[in-house]
Amino acid sequence: MSIPAAFKQELRQRLPLSAWIGKKVKVTRAGAEYKACCPFHHEKTPSFTINDQKQFYHCFGCGAHGDIITFAMEINNLPFMEAIEMLAAEAGLQVPQQTPEQKKAYEIYDRVMGCLAEASKFFRECLHDPKYKEIRQYALERGLNEETLEQFRLGFAPADRHALPAHLKAKGFSEKEMIEASLCRRSKKGDSVYAFFRDRLMFPVTDGRGRVVAFGGRILPDHLKQPEQGDFTPPKYINSSDTLVFHKGRMVFNESIARTASGKENAPIIITEGYMDVIALVQAGFHGAVAPLGTALTEEQIQLCWSMISQDIKEFYVCFDGDNAGKRAAERSVERMLPLIQPGMSARFVFMPAGEDPDSLIKSGGKGAFQRYLERAEPMINVIWAQLTEGQIFDTPERIAGLEKSVQNIVDKISHASVAHHYKTHLRDKIRDTYSPYALKQAKYKKKAAANPLIALTRPGQQKKQNHMQATLLYALYLYPQHIGRFEEMLAMINFEEPQYQAMCDALLKAYVDSEETLNHGRLKEIFLDFEQTDLYLHYVKDKAHLHAGFLADAQKSETIVTGINQLLQNIVQRGSFDPSEGAESTDSSVIKSGRRRMGETAQRLLADGNE
Ligand code: UTP
Ligand code: MN
Repeated sequence: MSIPAAFKQELRQRLPLSAWIGKKVKVTRAGAEYKACCPFHHEKTPSFTINDQKQFYHCFGCGAHGDIITFAMEINNLPFMEAIEMLAAEAGLQVPQQTPEQKKAYEIYDRVMGCLAEASKFFRECLHDPKYKEIRQYALERGLNEETLEQFRLGFAPADRHALPAHLKAKGFSEKEMIEASLCRRSKKGDSVYAFFRDRLMFPVTDGRGRVVAFGGRILPDHLKQPEQGDFTPPKYINSSDTLVFHKGRMVFNESIARTASGKENAPIIITEGYMDVIALVQAGFHGAVAPLGTALTEEQIQLCWSMISQDIKEFYVCFDGDNAGKRAAERSVERMLPLIQPGMSARFVFMPAGEDPDSLIKSGGKGAFQRYLERAEPMINVIWAQLTEGQIFDTPERIAGLEKSVQNIVDKISHASVAHHYKTHLRDKIRDTYSPYALKQAKYKKKAAANPLIALTRPGQQKKQNHMQATLLYALYLYPQHIGRFEEMLAMINFEEPQYQAMCDALLKAYVDSEETLNHGRLKEIFLDFEQTDLYLHYVKDKAHLHAGFLADAQKSETIVTGINQLLQNIVQRGSFDPSEGAESTDSSVIKSGRRRMGETAQRLLADGNE
C-alpha cells in the first residue's frame, strides 16, 4: 500500500489502542488485555478485546479484527488515506510525502479488490443460471446444501474464455486490473485477455474480514466437463497466483468464519487439506475448519492458526490421510512446527482412515464419524515417537543409542528451552520404558499372554478361590524369591483379576530381572518395605496361606518349595479354566473348549519347563 510500513508502525506506537478505542466505548482492564462491548455490533456482555502490546483488537462476537488504522477507518467510515491523516495529526506526525507511484499503487489495490468482488458475483450468478443447473446439481450431490453454497459464495466459471473479461469490462474494469487480480491472462498470440478459470466450480478465498481476495477452481467431473484439447490433462484444482491483495502462504481458507467460531463457541481450529473438506466440516458444525491454499503449511499459517485461538492452551488440529503419503505429510508438518511450538502452543494430529478425507468421512459416516477421529487426535510427541520407532527394532545398545541420537536431533529443533527440555525427558523415559532389557522382556510376555488367554476364562463362582490361590502364590514367591526365575514366563502370563495382585506380580518380576541371582527374601523385604502393611498381605495371605499351601507352614527344603509352587500354579491354571458343562452358553462351548485345551497345553509345557 501507499504508506510505508514504518510510518504505520510509528502511528501504532504513539497511539495506544486501548486509549484510542476508549474514546468511543467504555474500556476495562482484563489481565494483560482490555475488554469492551464491541462498537461494531450490538452486545450486552463484552466480547471485544484490545491488546496494546500486540496492537490489535479482536471481537469474538462478530469477528471484527484489526489495528488502530482499521479501527479508525471502520468506526469513522473513512478511506485509508484519510484515516492515516487523521491519526497522524493526532500523533503529531507528518504523513510522509506520497510519490505518484505510491498513490497509484493504492488505487490499484482498491480496484483489484473491486474487480475480485465483481468476479465473485459473476461466478455466483452463473451457478444460479438455469443454463448450468447440472453444475449446481453436482455441488448439491457432493452433499453441500443451498445454505452452504451461499455461505461460501460458491460459483461457476463458464467454459467461454471471454465471458468473465467481457463482464468485467462492462463493469468498468480494465484488462490490466483483471490481470492484477489474477483473474485473467494475456494470450500469447494476440493482445486480448482470457479468463484463467474456465469450466470450473469456483471457491472464493476470503481474507480475515471476509472479503474475496482470490479463487480456487475445481475441475468438473467427467460427465460435465468440456472435452480436453490435445493430450494435456488439466490439474484438478487451480488457484489464483499471489497478487497485491493475496499472499497464499500467509492466509488460510475460511479464516474469518473459523476465527469467529473459535472465539465465540471455542470451536476447535481444524486444518484440513482442501476446500471441500473445510466446507463439509463447516456444514457439519465444525466451524473452525481451515485449509492452506494448495501448498504445504507455512510458518505464517501456523502462527495464524494459533492467533485464532483465544484460550490459554492453543492447540489446533491437523488432519492427515491415514496412508503413507499422509504420514509423510505429517512428518513434514512436524518439522515445520518444532521450531515454533511454545508453552501451551502446539498441534494435535488427526489421522483419517486411509484414502478418506474429512469430506468423504462426513459424507459416509456423518458428523459423529469425524468427531470420533477428532477425539482420537494424537499429541505431537506421540506422532514423533511413532515416526522414530514405527516398524523398527531397538534390541541392542547401539540401536538404542541411535534412537537417542534421533531424539536429540528432534529436541535440537525446538527453539523454546523448556518445551525442548520436556520433550527430551519425555522421550528418554519412553525409550527406557519401552526398550530397556526389562521392558523388552515384559513386552515379549505380554505378547505371549495375548496369544494364550489363560486365566481370562475364570468362572465367576471361582473368583474368590482363585484370588486366594493367586495371593498365596505371590506370598510364596515373596518368601522364596530365589525360585521366581524358574516360573518367570508362566507368572508373566497370568492375568490377575485384582490390580493389586497384578502390580505385586509385576514388581516381583521386575525385582528379579533387576537383581537376577542375588535376589533373596531379605533383599526383597527392603524393596517391598510396605508390603506387609498391604491389604493383599493382611487380608488373604497372612491367615489363609496355609489353606492352599501347606508347604509354606514351616521352613522346607528347596525342592518341596518348588513342587509346592508348581502345584499352586497348576491349580491356578486349572481352576481358572472354564468348564463348559457348568453354565456356559452352548454357542460358546467350542470356543471355550478350544481355549481350555490350548490353555492346558501351554500350562503343561510351561510347568514342565519349570520342573526341569
Ligand atoms: P484433493 O485432491 O485431496 O482434493 O486436494 P479435495 O479437496 O479432496 O477435492 P475433491 O473432494 O476431490 O473435490 C486437496 C487440496 O489440494 C489443493 C486444493 O487446495 C485441494 O482442495 N490442490 C489439489 C491443488 O491446489 N491443485 C491440485 O491439482 C490438487
Ligand atoms: Mn475430497
